Amino acid sequence: MPTALITGITGQDGSYLAELLLSKNYKVVGVARRSSTVTNERINHLLDDITVVQGDLHDQGSLLSLIEEYEPTEVYNLAAQSFVPTSWNQPALTGDITAIGVTRILEAIRFVNPRIRFYQASSSEMFGKVLEVPQKEDTPFYPRSPYGVAKVYGHWITVNYRESFNMFATSGILFNHESPRRGLEFVTRKISDGVAKIKLGLTKELRLGNLEAQRDWGFAGDYVEAMWRMLQQDIPESYVIGMGETHAVREFCEIAFGHVDLDYKEFVVQDERFYRPAEVDLLISDPTKARTELGWEPAVGFKELVTMMVDADLERLKR
Ligand code: NAP
Ligand code: GDD
Repeated sequence: MPTALITGITGQDGSYLAELLLSKNYKVVGVARRSSTVTNERINHLLDDITVVQGDLHDQGSLLSLIEEYEPTEVYNLAAQSFVPTSWNQPALTGDITAIGVTRILEAIRFVNPRIRFYQASSSEMFGKVLEVPQKEDTPFYPRSPYGVAKVYGHWITVNYRESFNMFATSGILFNHESPRRGLEFVTRKISDGVAKIKLGLTKELRLGNLEAQRDWGFAGDYVEAMWRMLQQDIPESYVIGMGETHAVREFCEIAFGHVDLDYKEFVVQDERFYRPAEVDLLISDPTKARTELGWEPAVGFKELVTMMVDADLERLKR
């Protein structure tokens, strides 16, 4: 039975990846950091089937001993300080977890068993102020936030360990992927939650920042399949994962409000507090390599994603 160790098990992607690997008969070990309150909301339904252990990307020793004890065949590094605005308020912490944390886990693998296959959760935020449209594996990076800068480090240290130590270290450059399990502060979930609250009469407006920003949004459940496929290849490489289409935040609002027969223009208020010091205006992927080499095909389209998220928030709030 293969064993997968997942950092960031309590996050959006960690929960979907755990479900996928369980369906493939993996033993799943999820790493969660210690906190004074339990953050198992996304994995409560899996707790009988996975092993959750304490560890922290700040702490080299905890990573080393977990890899020694559980002997994983695959390690998925999904843990990060992943919210872009927070990275301007806490840039050093973001660098320590999202950048240096990758080195810590790579070092743990190198010391314990360099044959372990490794996945690094890289990001389209690395393309930032894009130097090419659409963005593919060899598009140069121009990050626009401390988070993006940290992810560039994480990407290159992964490539470097692959080349320096011949480790099976892959980097998935994933474009934005969303779901009903997305954190409430990210724009898509903020909108779906806001729409549901307005529809149910719980609030009257939704305050957002830049409505013209464009993202290549897909469904998280589809994207974790690509992570797994990357680790099943003969040769470790980097892959861009995205839908190959882009939509503005405004369009997301239009569909989400329209789905419950409301007009977003009557409820959305633009608020300067949600603008960023430097913005990523246009992200659009070229996922040709993933589609041809990994055979990866997403199942959920943009409209379906938006309506799925609104429906889920309506259900949740009604309950
Ligand atoms: P998420 O929901 O924010 O989850 C992040 C996870 O990291 C949480 O489980 C969090 O634990 C954990 N974590 C944070 N700091 C940690 C630390 N010091 N030690 C151990 N664990 C720590 O993020 P996601 O959307 O699932 O994304 C997964 C990964 O993919 C992240 O690395 C993200 O940067 C990257 N990524 C995401 C997207 C996207 O669109 N979702 C796109 C490209 C790349 P707590 O629950 O305790 O906070
Ligand atoms: N969060 C947020 N809140 N974003 C807003 C708002 C708002 O009220 N109004 C407009 N936006 C715009 C932001 O300016 C940004 O351009 C876009 O919506 C998307 O913001 P987020 O949903 O916060 O995601 P992100 O693109 O910054 O980052 C996510 O995707 C990256 C991949 O490109 C995160 O998941 C990162 O961890 C991930 O790497």
